[in-house]
Amino acid sequence: MTKLWSPIQVGRMTLSHRLAMSPMTRSRALPDGTPGALSPLYYAQRASLGLLISEGTQPSADGQGYLLTPGIYTESHIAGFKRITDRVHDAGGHLVIQLMHVGRVSHPDNTPHHRQALAPSAIAPGIGMFTASGMQDIPVPRAMTSEDVLATIEQFRVAAAAAIQAGADGVEIHGANGYLIHQFFAENANVRRDSYGGSPENRARFGIEVAQAVAKEIGADRTGFRISPGSPAAGLNEGPNGPEVYRVLIRELARLNLAYLHVLHRGNEEFLQEIRSLWPNVLLVNRAGRPLEKLTMDLDAGIADIVPVGTWALANPDLVRRLKEGAPLNAPDPETFYGGGARGYTDYPTLAELASKR
Ligand SMILES: Cc1cc2nc3c(=O)[nH]c(=O)nc-3n(C[C@H](O)[C@H](O)[C@H](O)COP(=O)(O)O)c2cc1C
Repeated sequence: MTKLWSPIQVGRMTLSHRLAMSPMTRSRALPDGTPGALSPLYYAQRASLGLLISEGTQPSADGQGYLLTPGIYTESHIAGFKRITDRVHDAGGHLVIQLMHVGRVSHPDNTPHHRQALAPSAIAPGIGMFTASGMQDIPVPRAMTSEDVLATIEQFRVAAAAAIQAGADGVEIHGANGYLIHQFFAENANVRRDSYGGSPENRARFGIEVAQAVAKEIGADRTGFRISPGSPAAGLNEGPNGPEVYRVLIRELARLNLAYLHVLHRGNEEFLQEIRSLWPNVLLVNRAGRPLEKLTMDLDAGIADIVPVGTWALANPDLVRRLKEGAPLNAPDPETFYGGGARGYTDYPTLAELASKR
């Protein structure tokens, strides 16, 4: 018997099942970072997934990389997210805002202040980025000073407070996918000689200090953390010390008693087992691209407590009902993942809508 439909407590949230929506950037915010007019509907449509983790949201102007991603650092951002959380709560769901600082994965054309991006070290990721004038190479970032490091941690803290003010049930700190916190972990993006570079303890320090500041501000029981061990996203190579950085990090996050750890898992099964043994609280495992018949394998094996889904949730607002009934799923349309309007955003039909059209 699968655990999929059994309830679970995650920090302050009581969830009725073990599915969740994975964070997904949809690039439909207004140019000033206020969530777009359709966002409340998009999230509310998916409320039966229980725990919705928002699209990556910048805690500051420096934190933005992509065009039209939302922020959570102005009054207008807070008001925009309040419209989302109100609709999600009315529909019975929970919303956690993912705090995503992209670090070096940014282009000055895409940020409000057009300044050079900040990163652990002055090393470009070696990839391109879509800007208003098309694809461009990402330029070399500026290495963060000690003051920048402290100021950035402070931005995470203030953004977490803003998320709560906007009615969010918590925040997820984005430490995955090649963005700022992950850059600190990785050998080829962090060549610092201060207490934030070098040893595994030092590489993990920035992520830990962000988690400490956020947990102190809003409560560890409203704080989650996402990692993607071994991921080469955005030009990263963690190097041979990668696993040790995660051991240090996870032990400290456990000491902080964060509500959950979220692993974007890409295949190192042994290390996933080790993470499970190191992490005492709720563990979310998002197995990228897993086939439907394997959805519950990590739950049933006792590795995961919750299995977030990305593209299936994007394309199936009533995914919970469809899985319960064994109904076929809508196919996601990658053409409309990023940017645009309602098409591919709020117009994926539910089973009920499909039936009424017949
Ligand atoms: C359109 C799209 C946008 C994404 N944006 C984010 C993001 O903002 N933050 C993040 O941590 N992961 C992001 N991801 C990764 C997803 O959360 C998830 O890990 C990935 O899609 C694999 O899971 P799936 O096979 O269930 O879709 C994104 C994925 C997609 C498809």
